Amino acid sequence: MENTQSSNILLCITGSIAAYKSADLARLFIKNGHNIRILMTDSACEFITPLTMQAISGNSVHRNLLDESAEQAMGHIELAKWADIILIAPCSAETISRLSSGRADDLLGAVILASKAQIYIAPAMNMNMWANIATQNNVESLRHRAMIFIGPSKGEQACGDNGYGRMSEPEEIYETIQMSENKLLNGKKIIVTAGPTREQIDPVRFISNNSSGKMGFALAEAASKSGADVTLIAGPVSLECSDQILRIDVNTAAEMYSESKKLIVDADIFIGCAAVADYSPIIQNQNKIKKSSSKDLQISLKKNIDIISSLSKEYPHKKFMGFCAETENVEEHAKIKLVEKGLDFIVANDVSKKDIGFDSDFNEISVFTKESHTHLQKASKNLLAIQLINMLSKDNQFIH
Ligand code: C5P
Repeated sequence: MENTQSSNILLCITGSIAAYKSADLARLFIKNGHNIRILMTDSACEFITPLTMQAISGNSVHRNLLDESAEQAMGHIELAKWADIILIAPCSAETISRLSSGRADDLLGAVILASKAQIYIAPAMNMNMWANIATQNNVESLRHRAMIFIGPSKGEQACGDNGYGRMSEPEEIYETIQMSENKLLNGKKIIVTAGPTREQIDPVRFISNNSSGKMGFALAEAASKSGADVTLIAGPVSLECSDQILRIDVNTAAEMYSESKKLIVDADIFIGCAAVADYSPIIQNQNKIKKSSSKDLQISLKKNIDIISSLSKEYPHKKFMGFCAETENVEEHAKIKLVEKGLDFIVANDVSKKDIGFDSDFNEISVFTKESHTHLQKASKNLLAIQLINMLSKDNQFIH
């Protein structure tokens, strides 16, 4: 996303192996016309040299709270006042803990306490350290102080573990901040459906699919950061969303339809990212069906209502974004669905590719409107979600 105005950005680097990515991050902001100053903690200097960051930013690096030369130039209060945005990337578990207790015995702690700027935090640490209840409590307390967390993302870590703890990629951090600052969807009401639905056969068996809900949850988060008032209608998934999002959990396609129908009345945009079951059993047995050793079991299915089609026909002036997972002739099938379902956008992904799609954190998608076709390269679902929300918010017919 292009920069709309130049801001003063204080990039704070703390002790993590991900500190090498801070150099790219700084360059990204500079390339897009922002003013950058760098603050480094002592342990950050073990991972990347202040000289590198000085050369990239064109300014001397701020390191010490009590530094005579720094006080004459830019002390902690001046630095705090200078910054429009403070970004801590990477942010270690130790720094999260120190910020949570409001420490001011180093430059970073003092600047954070003294600043009224929006603070963004991109954590980076071992997955167990991130998951630890102590860290999670600290994160919660910082969120209550309106600090915005970007990531961490999931993947292979420097220590060899694989899980949530990697610092998000510089581009994702940059795009999230741009989106969050621009707030192009301020005041818009958005409904996002996500995850699979579950159609019960009997009390213990059901028909469902492999949808993880990750893309829908990422879209809900991106829309919320963009200023929208988001309601997330989620099928059964083990994902969490931030407090700003109103979450409604459902199981069946019928429940998802009924919640969507109620909420669409006041909404501006409907994003149908859920993998809604197309069929459900005509009869749901009240008791567990007994296994018969001799006979096969027949289950009769009825077609479920197509939620997005039905809503787009009832509310043709609202905006609809649908998704489709295809294994062949992706473009052809997507374009047919765009028209048949009455959508403004359809996001198509090729689920025959193993490394992207359903349960993956990555995807590669094509977006079709009646007039255009945009291919979005393989990227994290978070970054793709930001790109999709940007497309929606820049759509001409939408910006009145
Ligand atoms: O036809 P297909 O299932 O490929 O279409 C997928 C799109 O339609 C998604 O946006 C999905 O959320 C939506 N859909 C729906 N209700 C259904 C089936 C699909 O809203 N019953």
